[in-house]
Amino acid sequence: MQTVQNTDHGQLHYGEGDTSFKAAGGYEGLVQLCEAFYNAMQQLPQAQHIRAMHPADLTESSEKLARFLSGWLGGPKLYREKYGLIRIPAAHAHLEIGPAERDAWLECMRVALQSQPYKDDFKTYLMQQLYVPAERSRTRD
Ligand code: HEM
Repeated sequence: MQTVQNTDHGQLHYGEGDTSFKAAGGYEGLVQLCEAFYNAMQQLPQAQHIRAMHPADLTESSEKLARFLSGWLGGPKLYREKYGLIRIPAAHAHLEIGPAERDAWLECMRVALQSQPYKDDFKTYLMQQLYVPAERSRTRD
């Protein structure tokens, strides 16, 4: 299991409480991550198909993802605060997302994580965890 050091309480695990949110640098860290994520989507050849599904201006898409990830990682539920309840499958139901689109999305995230000041074990943990909603976003084989 992945762990982080906490000097007061020994070992804390990612996924417990707001450990992951803190490991991601809080909301400011997530804003940086999501900017890097959409920069990668602009640039990676294999992501052009999913880039085209998004609005021309990615500002709001980036903010929505950062807000979603805040709550998803155990931090404040900032997406819900501004936009209301979200279910990941329903939010993507109108899109053509198969394995190639899912993998392109995850590749953008992998590239984005390379430029973040996170611990390596947290990057690995995050990629493993993100596979779950990425797979749930899939709308076709
Ligand atoms: C599997 C590949 C995925 C593709 C191709 C994809 C694509 C998209 C697109 C095109 C939008 C609409 C953007 C907009 O209108 O601004 C969107 C919205 C969104 N996606 Fe994804 N997405 C994927 C996976 C994920 C994953 C894994 C997460 C969360 C970890 C996620 C979280 C969101 C959120 C929070 C929104 C905003 C929904 C809304 O407010 O309407 N997506 N996605």
